[in-house]
Amino acid sequence: MTLLTAEQIPTVGLDFMNHDHAEAVSQINRLDQLLRQAGTGDIAAEKQVEAVLTEIHEHSKSHFAREEAEMLRVDFPAYECHKGEHERVLAELVQVLQRWQQNSDIESLQGYLNSTLCRWLINHVSTMDSVTAMFVARYNHSVA
Ligand SMILES: [Fe+2]
Ligand SMILES: [Fe+2]
Repeated sequence: MTLLTAEQIPTVGLDFMNHDHAEAVSQINRLDQLLRQAGTGDIAAEKQVEAVLTEIHEHSKSHFAREEAEMLRVDFPAYECHKGEHERVLAELVQVLQRWQQNSDIESLQGYLNSTLCRWLINHVSTMDSVTAMFVARYNHSVA
């Protein structure tokens, strides 16, 4: 069973964004799978959690930076708002990683993944990313 399916994330008008979103879904599912295994006492799985969580943070940084570069290139009016949301989530991921390093609390990390990160990704792609992709695509068309 996967936590998040590709169909739950809307396709936007720019391929590089869809690619980043597909990668985010696959990382989230990988972490969910590890946490389920860790929850049954699988120590090897538990030991891999930190690395996958770090990967999620690293990929989010590059994913968000690619969107921000595009927004700047086309002078997207809601740049600050969209970037602010990225920064908030990156700071949250750092905190979640630190908490895991301190207490390795499987249930709490599962709760964050299920209730916060998944919902945020679906909502963010449906709103800010979709609007941004539409704006960039229109800009590209107008200068082509
Ligand atoms: Fe995105
Ligand atoms: Fe975004």
